[in-house]
Amino acid sequence: MILVVKKTGQTLKRDDAVIVFLAEQGRAEIKKSLPTELSYIEKRLNLAFFKGKQSELMFLPFADQPTIILCGIGKKGEIDAESLRRSAAAAIALCRDRFIDHVNITVPVIPSLDGGRVLICLAEGTYLANYGFDKYKTKSNDNGKPLLRSAAFLTNVKNAASILKRVEIISRNTLLCRDLINETSEKSDSRGIAREAKALGKIPGVTCTIYGKKEIEKMKMGLLLAVNKGSARPPQLVVLKYQGGRPGKKFLALVGKGITFDSGGMNLKPSGHIEDMRTDMAGAAAVMYALKTAAELKLPRNLYAVLPLTDNMLSNESYRPGDVFTAYNGTTVEIGNTDAEGRLILADAIAFTEKRLKPDSIIDMATLTGACLTTFGELVAGYVTTDDGMGALLENAGAATGELIWRLPLFKDYEENVKSDIADICNVPAERNAGTIMGGIFLKNFVKTKRWTHIDIASTARATKQRGYRPKNATGFGVRLLVEAVTNWKD
Ligand code: BES
Ligand code: ZN
Ligand code: ZN
Repeated sequence: MILVVKKTGQTLKRDDAVIVFLAEQGRAEIKKSLPTELSYIEKRLNLAFFKGKQSELMFLPFADQPTIILCGIGKKGEIDAESLRRSAAAAIALCRDRFIDHVNITVPVIPSLDGGRVLICLAEGTYLANYGFDKYKTKSNDNGKPLLRSAAFLTNVKNAASILKRVEIISRNTLLCRDLINETSEKSDSRGIAREAKALGKIPGVTCTIYGKKEIEKMKMGLLLAVNKGSARPPQLVVLKYQGGRPGKKFLALVGKGITFDSGGMNLKPSGHIEDMRTDMAGAAAVMYALKTAAELKLPRNLYAVLPLTDNMLSNESYRPGDVFTAYNGTTVEIGNTDAEGRLILADAIAFTEKRLKPDSIIDMATLTGACLTTFGELVAGYVTTDDGMGALLENAGAATGELIWRLPLFKDYEENVKSDIADICNVPAERNAGTIMGGIFLKNFVKTKRWTHIDIASTARATKQRGYRPKNATGFGVRLLVEAVTNWKD
């Protein structure tokens, strides 16, 4: 989708469509808030029937004037970034229902919000709502809602063009992230994702290194290899590097769980829990597209994205409960449950990242525990951190982007729950409770870096229904959160 600026005062054509955002307000104010080229709305309509409640819609196909889509944005004092994104998403859904492929969008003046911010949020809601994954539909009339090709924002806001360019880059990558997650595990397998990563090496400032099975064996990443044992496909370890900051500046490493299909292994997942497990690489996808976005935005930061990739399959060769494997850092790990595979591949990837890349800070992102979904529902991700400042930075980034995260504690007393009778630690806790915290505590055994945050996106990476600009299935959660955090990073 293309986002462009149109200065207000330009004439609109009769067959144009225009989304007009209106707050809950009196008729006189509505008159004032309309651009002159749209003043006919106020004259020709009985606006008593339109209240302006958030996401309230009215479709007005005039025969002799541009078609109008009125969209409410709620009470002036209650409008915020997220409500604007949602209102835009509601209007875009209507446009798609009506087969509109290009739309003009008015940018309302909201006293409590900066004009640039209003434009950003409306553009984000517009772009992110304009998504579908229908490449496997063969009948065009069964393809769901068609997509818009472009949107023109009627605004005199300063720097509108560069604001829209930024939104376009971030949102486009969020949609690409959704695509990679929604893609089948046949195609989005370890080598398929590594291939996508390799292509990012063409972006200025980005380099991509891919380690195959032989190199992973040579490096003795025993936990990634253990999870891969049952698979017909080789594991891959992808290291993306983006150097946008001055030389000598510190690196932030992003590590993402890349389980391309999680069958559970010998602890096989039952029906009802296995169907969507192709999305278990959402952490890897999010960190990859966050790095790509940072590079395309030319952010002055130094970043790594590390992706351990494999599926977790069931075969004669599979790893088994009761087995013991040695991690990259020498720790021995008892396998209590083959379905707790995410923490295994992350443990090796984090230890590798520390030893070989020596970053200043680490953020890992993973669809790690079903408990996270039980705790938070589909709208909030859980996190644990060893650094309050880092936690605050990420939480603020979450609030700004609408990708909310909520902190859980790393209680010291729970550390003994990962102890094993036969090895250094076990991949499932002795007690089954506090699942998300225990995932974090397991990983902490592999972290020496002072600043570390683990974000469990098992709750938010995939949605069971569409909500506003967040579609059903892969949401792309994490890309916008990480890009915002990296933008505000103080290195
Ligand atoms: N990939 C799953 C977690 C998951 C569950 C993600 C539901 C998204 C939705 C993970 O590998 C897993 O199976 N975790 C186990 C851990 C347990 C065995 C300690 C879980 O949550 O049950
Ligand atoms: Zn699992
Ligand atoms: Zn998993």
